[in-house]
Amino acid sequence: MKIVVGNFKMNLNKEEIDNYLNVVKEYFFPNVVFCPSTIYLDSFIKNSLTVGTQDIGFMEKGAYTGDISASMYKSIGVSYAIIGHSERRKYYRDDKYVNQKLNMALKAELKPILCIGETQEERENGLTNQVLIEQITQSLQNIDKEFLKNVIIAYEPVWSIGTGNIPTNEEIFKTIDYIKTYINYEYEVDMNVLYGGSVNQDNISILEEISNVDGYLVGGCSIDVNKFVQLINYINNRS
Ligand code: PGA
Repeated sequence: MKIVVGNFKMNLNKEEIDNYLNVVKEYFFPNVVFCPSTIYLDSFIKNSLTVGTQDIGFMEKGAYTGDISASMYKSIGVSYAIIGHSERRKYYRDDKYVNQKLNMALKAELKPILCIGETQEERENGLTNQVLIEQITQSLQNIDKEFLKNVIIAYEPVWSIGTGNIPTNEEIFKTIDYIKTYINYEYEVDMNVLYGGSVNQDNISILEEISNVDGYLVGGCSIDVNKFVQLINYINNRS
């Protein structure tokens, strides 16, 4: 089954979350990872839903005001952690913490969803593959080989996030093929690679034609429960 990750970002208040849960708890979606804001994770867990956090602290514990550690998330029943999302790289200079956060997640037995992707400018300058390799190399350095197979990559072109602009199926296929081939060659593991960037209930039928995508990281569409359910059902009814 394909993995579908819903990244709510900083959206939905308590009432909206309760309404969301009322709808979603009627379904059985074993392949879906919900990533609401941290304060709502427990409500999802109590409804037997699989959850991920949108970020984790870069240290194990200590004087890091405002941070929440990987092991704390693990201890309440969180299974996944999004690491290095482009918004965190942009607003919080997260690039330099990605490797450390990845390590923390793996040590705590959270499955990391490592986000990589090129900006519009990098794409226009023909730098896409180079940027992706740099992000992969920097993120995965010194990670134990036995842990590597637990890493999931999310290929998210930055210019596609929240814009409605999506690469062609051929472009996505080629880039994902490049990522998988590189990782297999360099690290001798097969990693699942998701696509993310403006995925929604309307374009999923086109994206589903791509043969090497292992799932999707969905932002905007995932905060509308009816649209998200429609999207998941489309994917799951095909497989
Ligand atoms: P989007 O966001 O689906 O709204 O483009 C994807 C993401 O940022 O993970």
